[in-house]
Amino acid sequence: MYAGNSFEDEIAGLEEEGLRRKLAALPGAGGKLTIDGSEVLNFSSNDYLNLANDPRLKDSAKAAVERYGCGATASRLMAGDLILHEELDMRLAGLVHQQAALVFPSGFQANLGAITTLAAKDGIIFSDELNHASIVDGCRLARAQVHIFRHCDLDHLEGLLQTHQRGGRKIIVSDGVFSMDGDLAPVSALRQLADRHGAYLLIDEAHALGVFGRGAGLCAELGVKPDVVVANMTKALGSGGGFVAGSRDFIDLLINKARSFIFSTGLAPACLGSALKAVEIVEAEPELGAELLRRAKFLRGLLNEKGFDIPDEASQIVPMVIGSNEAAVEMSGALLERGVLITAVRPPSVPDGTARLRLSITLAHDEGDLHRATEVMAAIALEAGVL
Ligand SMILES: Cc1ncc(COP(=O)(O)O)c(C=O)c1O
Repeated sequence: MYAGNSFEDEIAGLEEEGLRRKLAALPGAGGKLTIDGSEVLNFSSNDYLNLANDPRLKDSAKAAVERYGCGATASRLMAGDLILHEELDMRLAGLVHQQAALVFPSGFQANLGAITTLAAKDGIIFSDELNHASIVDGCRLARAQVHIFRHCDLDHLEGLLQTHQRGGRKIIVSDGVFSMDGDLAPVSALRQLADRHGAYLLIDEAHALGVFGRGAGLCAELGVKPDVVVANMTKALGSGGGFVAGSRDFIDLLINKARSFIFSTGLAPACLGSALKAVEIVEAEPELGAELLRRAKFLRGLLNEKGFDIPDEASQIVPMVIGSNEAAVEMSGALLERGVLITAVRPPSVPDGTARLRLSITLAHDEGDLHRATEVMAAIALEAGVL
């Protein structure tokens, strides 16, 4: 055996730091679950619009499977480009007000493909320090110059843009709604900076699609046009897969250059069918997102009344920073025993010392549920000495 660096040693190291992760299989997905016969409020699902179990999506997924089978069976450039892929490309482009879009097997792959293609080999990327891991990995894979700006710090970003001018395409990249803090990127100011410095703007709308801008995302809500949008069908749309949207030329380039697209089997028909139905629903009922945000604001108010210090952000993601990894995990366990599922989020998903309980509110949660969850959270926080 390899003394000192065995798998067991590495896992023991994670355990010591309170960073060991374990899978925990659930009997279902979405904002409300039945576990061992009892109802559990699930605040760790991103099924924001409560669509993952919607019968309309299920029927559409079933019809797609009947017509196309269970797998795309090849990458889209080989023989895996189904009519449904192209229909969904078109519908997603329309949803986010871009010329064209391209469906990827996952949102993670969409970011890898968009960033590596945009940056080519001599690009200069300016990336917010709290961007999602798929953006971080896209920057690494691009083998471009990467400059990290302090979270939402426009002065820092502008300084970096002024200092680093030589090279290929300049790209500013940011989450729209930040996944672990629920705060919003200053997308209008990012657009202005990009214009002033001749940079492209890529915004990841993963947590804003379907929620902000009558479903079209945060940029649409604020009247901002990014050069490239990345998002996915895995959250508000209740399905699977990701996509990149932008100009027709950029999408054409992606088809030719993005390795995470070219060398991966096309998204499966069930996901295509359900995602198409979800887009139809979001376009027909554009007020769903606003209702979700109203409920999120209501929960923030309830939690603050109990003495929590919840930031006044506008999104459906509510962070409750605990600090210690062990305390966050213990509280999460105690909450589940009382029927509230909030998974602890620890480094490297969040910065060291900021382990937290991160709540995602969904349309499965009504006001009564939010009251019930608040009571349970307050009781557990008092027991844990963090309130
Ligand atoms: C901001 C952001 N971008 C991209 C992704 C990746 O998307 P997917 O889960 O569809 O691979 C996620 C999902 O976790 C995300 O939160």
